[in-house]
Amino acid sequence: MAAEFTCNQEIIEVARRNLTQDVWDYLTGAAESETTLRRNRYALDKLAFLPRVCRDVSKVDPSSTFLGHKLRIPVMLAPIGSLQAIHEGGGAASCTAASKFGTIPMISSITLPSLEDCAKSAEGPKIFQLYVRGDKAWIRDILGRAKAAGYTALALTVDSAVYGIRERQLMNAYQPPSVKAQTNRHLQSAITWELMDWIKAEWGGPFILKGVATAVDTKMAIERGVDIIYVSNHGGRQLDHCLGAMETLPTVVAAAAGKAKILIDGGFVRGSDVIKAVALGADAVLIGRLQGWALAAGGADGLLRCLELLEREITNTLALLGLVSFKELTKDYVCQVDPLGPCHEMSAFAHLPNGRLV
Ligand SMILES: Cc1cc2nc3c(=O)[nH]c(=O)nc-3n(C[C@H](O)[C@H](O)[C@H](O)COP(=O)(O)O)c2cc1C
Repeated sequence: MAAEFTCNQEIIEVARRNLTQDVWDYLTGAAESETTLRRNRYALDKLAFLPRVCRDVSKVDPSSTFLGHKLRIPVMLAPIGSLQAIHEGGGAASCTAASKFGTIPMISSITLPSLEDCAKSAEGPKIFQLYVRGDKAWIRDILGRAKAAGYTALALTVDSAVYGIRERQLMNAYQPPSVKAQTNRHLQSAITWELMDWIKAEWGGPFILKGVATAVDTKMAIERGVDIIYVSNHGGRQLDHCLGAMETLPTVVAAAAGKAKILIDGGFVRGSDVIKAVALGADAVLIGRLQGWALAAGGADGLLRCLELLEREITNTLALLGLVSFKELTKDYVCQVDPLGPCHEMSAFAHLPNGRLV
């Protein structure tokens, strides 16, 4: 069944049918006016390509590497809390799809099944994403569990000092399971650079700072030895009225000056989006909502198919740009334009019945 999806729009339409209104809104919605959410798409929709011609593109290799691991495409899976509300397999389904496809999942500390069960569910490298929900002893314990379970890197999320005001959730009176179950949420508000230093040292391996949005924080993080800067506004679910992630990317890339790897998420739903990010200096892109929609449409198989479709789009776009691999891609292949229409979470899909799924 899953393998029959012909494009990701089809996957999203099935996800919409499979999810109740409140879970759809939890997954798809964002904070307050949802301006940041729309700006994520705006920032992608206002980039156009400058293709080169008369080059032999009969063999295209869309692969990449991250932390020494081969990625079949430079797309990884963003951490999603409460995945079990979207698909019964939860984080384990993401791990299965990532392993079968050849990419890396980032597993949220507030999703089910447990970090150990996610790790055991499939072969291959995995990254653990931490929300702080306890004191240093609690953090030491959960990091020890993540190390013992074999996670290869740690991502600390720092754009969530308080929970975003998500009006779709409020109006539906919907609380995701992770919010219902959580204790000590307030400790996330008390994260400082000093605590980050301590967590990073305690982890002792590759360390990702998730939720960076400015040059000044990029420089501070790199001075403190952060290996990987993850540009993200949490898919617009936290601070409203941010820049789109792709508007932030060039600033962060310039500030990092090659001293850290750069990840990005926010609005990525097409192969062409991924190519725009890599052209402007990202090492890889992560998918949040698209991952959730694919799981809702067809579980691990649906997500595997979604990644295959992204691969097809990436390979196709590279060839049409006159490129055989990401190694040759530079910022000279993109330029700024005015977007053609309204930008929103569905604006990459031209054939939706009313232009939008709600
Ligand atoms: C339903 C949902 C739950 C999320 N839960 C987490 C989480 O537990 N930890 C985290 O760091 N980010 C979380 N995020 C943010 C994603 O990791 C990612 O930054 C965002 O979804 C990227 O934007 P996109 O959805 O447009 O791809 C969540 C996002 C969604 C949609």
